[in-house]
Amino acid sequence: MPRIAYVNGRYVAHTDAAVHVEDRGYQFGDAVYEVCEITRGFIIDLTGHLDRLGRSLSELSIDWPIGRAALIVVMREVIRRNRVTDGLVYLQVTRGVAGRDHFFPASDTKPSLVITAKKIDPRSYARKAETGLKIITVPENRWDRVDIKSVGLLPNVLAKQQAKLSGAHDAWFVDRDGFVTESASANAWIVTKEGVLVTRPAKHGILRGITRTTLFKVAERLGLKIEERGFTVAEAMAAREAFVSSATTTAMPVVAIDGHPVANGHPGSITLSLRQAFFDVAEKSPA
Ligand code: PDD
Repeated sequence: MPRIAYVNGRYVAHTDAAVHVEDRGYQFGDAVYEVCEITRGFIIDLTGHLDRLGRSLSELSIDWPIGRAALIVVMREVIRRNRVTDGLVYLQVTRGVAGRDHFFPASDTKPSLVITAKKIDPRSYARKAETGLKIITVPENRWDRVDIKSVGLLPNVLAKQQAKLSGAHDAWFVDRDGFVTESASANAWIVTKEGVLVTRPAKHGILRGITRTTLFKVAERLGLKIEERGFTVAEAMAAREAFVSSATTTAMPVVAIDGHPVANGHPGSITLSLRQAFFDVAEKSPA
């Protein structure tokens, strides 16, 4: 069955889906995006993702391309046409198509909207969770507004590629004071020897992950304490467990940092219990 994408009002074959060469997303990375997980026929945490999309758009003064209710209709239609029951739905909004000029285009320029959906075998994540991720650390070199979910991800791309070339799966950015900010495509967490979850406050230096927010509720359900504070690489290496969180991975164990095993080098039980309880606690909207 061929994949279908939505591009500016049309459902088109994924292989032919394209935007104009002067789309500002293509020219300037002048665009924002969201990724929602689809599990067992449900869109996970849709409200949170669309609220954050609204915030990203508003921070960049980009209009909603279509209304929120219409956007949900199109998301569902793309998911349906691609027969996705487990996987993800991706949406991207750009400032639109205009002759290349750094200044914002005329106010009647229509934002572009692209939506795609992809099947992912949930067993592939389950297998990853059994072995866990190896992480490298890299100096934080991103701009100050990583709270906006912008498609300008070049530092993230370079960090992730560096991880791959080092035989690892992901990279953690480390700020000038030695504190971990987040991973190239997820939030970063540790579990202390006392079983307390530690993750950086979302006020500065990280994207406020929707999965992160749901994990706060999961932790409460499991009776786990959370401390929102920075942690260093040394603290992470000496921690009882470490993990990352994102829409596609939920809570995913980290088993090594810069070649040093975290605890015994195996996925931690607290991370796995968060992972297991996630679906129950998350918001589930029929896809
Ligand atoms: N990434 N931090 C960064 C830099 C991210 O790119 C992501 C998500 C997160 C976690 O956010 P959430 O829990 O809302 O997915 C944190 C997505 C999955 C991506 O770029 O593919």
